[in-house]
Amino acid sequence: MTDSIPISPLASGPPAAAPASYFQRHIFFCLNERPNGEACCAQHDAQAAFERCKSLVKAAGLAGPGQVRVNKAGCLDRCAAGPVAVVYPDAVWYSYVDAGDIDEIVESHLKNGQVVQRLLTPEHLGR
Ligand code: FES
Repeated sequence: MTDSIPISPLASGPPAAAPASYFQRHIFFCLNERPNGEACCAQHDAQAAFERCKSLVKAAGLAGPGQVRVNKAGCLDRCAAGPVAVVYPDAVWYSYVDAGDIDEIVESHLKNGQVVQRLLTPEHLGR
């Protein structure tokens, strides 16, 4: 069973007082790699997670203006919790482990607007 809390579903659009956003949500994946061997998201196959997310979003018909954009990012400064991805404007941070986690983020959060509680990055973890 998925623990989740409701946020605005994709179909509801931005709050009435907010200006229209070109994309409803962005998900940014840290793909940072540190050549000196220090901990980084690239050590955890972040590139594959990014590519899986992008593919799933496209296959679900969620990609494009007014919907979802999947983006690469450099270090998001939460390396201790990596690999990480963050969804804006919801400001929801995820620490994922495997492909199933990416599938759940796409299905629950990006498609249905439900935060995946079990994957939330602990608030105290930064760099
Ligand atoms: S290396 Fe990914 S958050 Fe810093």
